Amino acid sequence: AEVSLFRSRLLRWYDQSKRDLPWRTVAMTETDANIRTYAVWVSEVMLQQTQVATVIDYYNKWMKRWPTVQELAAASVEDVNEMWAGLGYYSRGRRLHQGAQKVMSELAGEMPRTTQGLLKWLPGVGRYTAGAVGSIALGLVTGAVDGNVTRVLCRLRAIGADCTSSLVTDLLWEICNLIVDPERPGQFNQALMELGALVCRPKSPLCARCPVQTHCHAYRKVTHITFSVAILY
Ligand code: ADE
Repeated sequence: AEVSLFRSRLLRWYDQSKRDLPWRTVAMTETDANIRTYAVWVSEVMLQQTQVATVIDYYNKWMKRWPTVQELAAASVEDVNEMWAGLGYYSRGRRLHQGAQKVMSELAGEMPRTTQGLLKWLPGVGRYTAGAVGSIALGLVTGAVDGNVTRVLCRLRAIGADCTSSLVTDLLWEICNLIVDPERPGQFNQALMELGALVCRPKSPLCARCPVQTHCHAYRKVTHITFSVAILY
């Protein structure tokens, strides 16, 4: 079926082209699911409104200072704010801190292991962050639709409507939940993000280098129009 070819092409490209990011290493090598979940949660909250290049240093410092959810819960609000300085949107740091304290007091230090649990227990974690943490840290078979993935999927299916409307967003979640690779959900989701960041960029996308060009309806449309115009000459 088309979807299995799409998955294997996307993941082969990701294996060869992905950036080495510290939270990806943790997700792949850490054997303790509690630490994986905590680490990916921290990274995804930092990445909510901040660029990857900026997040890397902050993430490394944070994880060095508070390697576990227990240690973060025991930190002071002042130390958390100081560590967050420069990242912007300070409520994100405070919510990480509050979430860690909730995990300690109400879940005996065990990070949630389900999408519903992540949504219920971690303040500031919505549908996207729960999908990202669940798939990347825990291997849960769920999509994760952020801004990059929205753009990639809208182009892939040539959705011309406003891609940020709630109607389209719900449709993109359905698509993502259907096409996510059940064997490698976290890497599949990060591959879509990586494709959006490196190839399927907002302006001047690099279609010639796209691993899933033959699956892309937007690309097909553009080349068809180009051909239709060309034969008029
Ligand atoms: N943006 C949000 N989550 C990300 C991730 N895991 N990798 C790269 N960019 C991201």
